[in-house]
Amino acid sequence: MSFPKGLIFDLDGVIVTTEHNHYVAWKRTADQLGVPFSEKENEQLKGLSRIDSLKKILELGNLPEMDETTFNKLLTEKNNFYKDSIQNLSRKDCLPGVIELLDSAKEKNIPMAIGSSSKNAPFIIDKLELKHFFEIIVDGTMVEQPKPHPEVFLNAAKFMNLKPEDCIVFEDAESGVKAAKSGGFLAIAVGNENIASLADKYISSLTEFNL
Ligand code: BG6
Ligand code: MG
Repeated sequence: MSFPKGLIFDLDGVIVTTEHNHYVAWKRTADQLGVPFSEKENEQLKGLSRIDSLKKILELGNLPEMDETTFNKLLTEKNNFYKDSIQNLSRKDCLPGVIELLDSAKEKNIPMAIGSSSKNAPFIIDKLELKHFFEIIVDGTMVEQPKPHPEVFLNAAKFMNLKPEDCIVFEDAESGVKAAKSGGFLAIAVGNENIASLADKYISSLTEFNL
């Protein structure tokens, strides 16, 4: 029996450098709210949905819940700032080893999918001109329960007609590795040593992964 039968990739921080753009945008929001926020705090936001990320910032600052209008305004402002920062995204922003791995899996007829919390995932994949590699892009608009719930990856596997245990999930975030493991997938942590112990395997970049 061959393994893996399918590959599922998180997007931000696994395929492309945009995790840093998210950090810069959230840092701006946190600064506005007077919440101390560095790359260390940002680790807890990685992989979370937009709404859950802002809730996490409020929690980090011990701030009370805010009214819906203000909350939504902050989400829109963050997303506008973030989107402005990724307008010029292109293939050169793919992380090391990405194109080589996608090419090699395609050549071996191993189906691939994106499983991302981001509602901007289709926009980013278009910018990177990678759409033809994937059977499906499951993004933040397509799930009811965001990571760390496994729904995003389960949907991707289901679409490819594969069982979770036949697929590898590549993730850079704690919430994403937890989602993969609780869904029954083999989880490979990429480029984030902090989550190495939660995953089945750790690689510093996709250049280290060989099909
Ligand atoms: C995830 C990122 O992929 O998408 C998070 O790891 C981000 O940092 C989340 O907050 C939601 O993204 P978006 O683009 O829908 O705001
Ligand atoms: Mg990620």
